[in-house]
Amino acid sequence: MKKYILVLSICFAIASQNAEAQNKEKKENKEGKVSAIDHAKAQFDYAFEEFAKVKASGAKGVSPRTTKGDTLVLVASKDWTSGFFSGNLWYMYELTKDKKWLEKAKEFSAPIEQEKTNGVTHDMGFKIYCSFGNGYRLTKDPKYRDIMIQSARTLITRFNPTVGCIRSWDHHAEVWDFPVIIDNMMNLELLFWAFKETKDSTFYKVAVSHANTTMKNHFRPDFSSYHVIGYDPKTGQVTKRNTHQGFSDESSWARGQAWGLYSYTMCYRETGDKKYLQQAEKIGNYILNHPSMPKDLVPYWDYNAPKIPNEPRDVSAATITASALYELSTMVPEKAVLYKETADKIMKSLNKTYKAEPLTNKGFLLIHSTGNLPAKSEIDVPIVYADYYYLEALLRKRKLNK
Ligand code: GLY
Repeated sequence: MKKYILVLSICFAIASQNAEAQNKEKKENKEGKVSAIDHAKAQFDYAFEEFAKVKASGAKGVSPRTTKGDTLVLVASKDWTSGFFSGNLWYMYELTKDKKWLEKAKEFSAPIEQEKTNGVTHDMGFKIYCSFGNGYRLTKDPKYRDIMIQSARTLITRFNPTVGCIRSWDHHAEVWDFPVIIDNMMNLELLFWAFKETKDSTFYKVAVSHANTTMKNHFRPDFSSYHVIGYDPKTGQVTKRNTHQGFSDESSWARGQAWGLYSYTMCYRETGDKKYLQQAEKIGNYILNHPSMPKDLVPYWDYNAPKIPNEPRDVSAATITASALYELSTMVPEKAVLYKETADKIMKSLNKTYKAEPLTNKGFLLIHSTGNLPAKSEIDVPIVYADYYYLEALLRKRKLNK
């Protein structure tokens, strides 16, 4: 009888703790008119309608990326952003447990499968890990596993052992012989996964070599990073240090800094190597203490943009940073509170000021991202990957609160 009462009390305590966590989540995310999850549900339903409309009007493409004026922009599976929309739907399934999102996630993931043999780009991780990676994690469908392993094999064909990196672009061959961009670090998560799944250490060695070489050559003494490093593929020497999407070669492009923080945090998770943790913390320190960082922690598109504060923000850099900080908070006990509270503050700003009005913005969740300002492309618009890391951050926050 005593045992029975004890078990009952434990169950009761857990149930009330869960209810409390759920209430806390609702309250924290309710900045604005509706909760973050209810807002996302309504926006994605609206996005499906807009997607159907634009397809019916003859648009090509498999996945929403952004808006241009009053048009929803779709991309082909080969675009680096093609995996984020289905990734958003996988996260919706995880957040709500509603099978409706599972079906939609499967539907929008399917056309991206053909990318598994596309070896002309480094963006495999973005495309495949965000779509099928989440799909496999949530369903354990062996077909998704095969797609991911094939994709990882294709990705490592771009590795040059003399340089020690995976080549980023094949385009702009007239500028760089062997360009490596900071964003490329994000693709390593797929390789760490492939190593764990297959036990083929090649995946691990390529990922670690790329992470180490990038750590050596991409970062300045203050832990800000260059966007593009050009290498001589025959000697491995650095030949150029440039930007492509930032303000200038020596400036700090906001999303690039966020990719660095996120990816070195991930590298520490996957290897346990403390040097990656230190790197992530130093990058985080650079971002959070930068004099150009606004009070709401949503950065301008480049920390050195010349007309700050009259420059567009990049919400995508903020969502990537929030998600990374939630993970980092689990790795550094003495700074757990600081990192979590900082991520919470970013999420609060996003929920309060940067959420799209319901049933606007073609169904994207957040406004005010900047894709490529120097190319005059995607300035102050909604962008699918900002939503992806926002939903991931919501999930990470929920897990931490529990
Ligand atoms: N990977 C390209 C970008 O961050 O815009």
